[in-house]
Amino acid sequence: MPDFKFPDFPDNNKSLLRKYLTEDIFNQLAGLKTSNNFTLEKAIKSGVENPDSGVGIYAGDAESYTLFAPIFDPIIEDYHKFTASDSHNSDMKPPEAAWSNPDKEGKYILSTRIRVGRNLADMPLGPAISTAQRNEVENRASIALMNLPDELKGRYYRLSNLSDEERQKLVEDHFLFKSGDRFLESAGLNRDWPEGRGIFHNTDKTFLVWVNEEDQLRIISMQMGGDIFEVFSRLCKAVDSLSKSMSFLQSKHLGYITSCPTNLGTAMRASVHIKLPKLADRQDLFKKITDEHYLQIRGIHGEHTESAEPIFDISNKRRLGVTEVELIRGLYDGILALINKEKSF
Ligand code: ADP
Ligand code: ARG
Repeated sequence: MPDFKFPDFPDNNKSLLRKYLTEDIFNQLAGLKTSNNFTLEKAIKSGVENPDSGVGIYAGDAESYTLFAPIFDPIIEDYHKFTASDSHNSDMKPPEAAWSNPDKEGKYILSTRIRVGRNLADMPLGPAISTAQRNEVENRASIALMNLPDELKGRYYRLSNLSDEERQKLVEDHFLFKSGDRFLESAGLNRDWPEGRGIFHNTDKTFLVWVNEEDQLRIISMQMGGDIFEVFSRLCKAVDSLSKSMSFLQSKHLGYITSCPTNLGTAMRASVHIKLPKLADRQDLFKKITDEHYLQIRGIHGEHTESAEPIFDISNKRRLGVTEVELIRGLYDGILALINKEKSF
């Protein structure tokens, strides 16, 4: 590690990594290694190589979050408003259906998607996993996915067996992850691509699982329209079924442990694709409402994309220190506020 020096961050780097990585913290952590040989150099490579990172750091295993706590803790606190002494609780029991659809007339919400990330309890996370371990994860996941009940039943497709056209179509239709993400590339998450990666889905593509992308599993429930309750209920059922045959990495403090600190806790991103032509021209108001409800605005082709039409991906920003049910409730209230404002013009 002789040439690993304090990074020379360019001025346009606005990442949380840059904000919190002091020379003191760097000197304290630069020589440390987790039991999976994960180092500070590997953890911050993505943020150093991609100056447009919002966060800029990844973990190689659960131990990274404790060994490198002086840099992870302030980033986690800034992003999730969750301090080192807070605790996290999970609640994946769908409550009454009263808050099922914030857009009953079906005029604004095009589709709803809720995903959670999961990693296996006895494996390092993606940035530190070996080729053999990653293939073992794929093997275990494909077996667990063969035994799902009812509407969750489906088939696993290895990425390397899909033709370019099939893969491209799945990406365009919002079902599959993109290839070649540069943030993941620098984090070591694209090693051996496409080996060990794949996608499972049921016939209707309302239940999907991504294997070995940013997290070992991304468990996804989605459908057209705004019935958030139905989408959440399907997800809860799937996660419950999979938890019977796989043991997931978690801790009392951080909830489900993920490679990116933004996903810790619930590892859940619940989103709608929503058409808001009037608010699109009032960015100040739009942002005020999403900020008040802790929501994030993305383009409709996924993270780091822009929307050409006035259709947006609106989702919960926080994932840690709040339960899944509370996050869904927050999304529901926020969407209702956006729709009401849109109607008021
Ligand atoms: P993730 O949610 O897994 O963190 P992305 O933002 O990259 O990651 O989204 C992954 C894919 O899911 C993209 O193709 C995106 O268009 C699609 N997607 C996200 N939310 C919705 C939604 N509400 N309806 C339809 N597709 C969605
Ligand atoms: N590392 C990227 C950044 O800092 C992505 C962060 C959040 N997104 C994610 N997919 N984990 O901007």
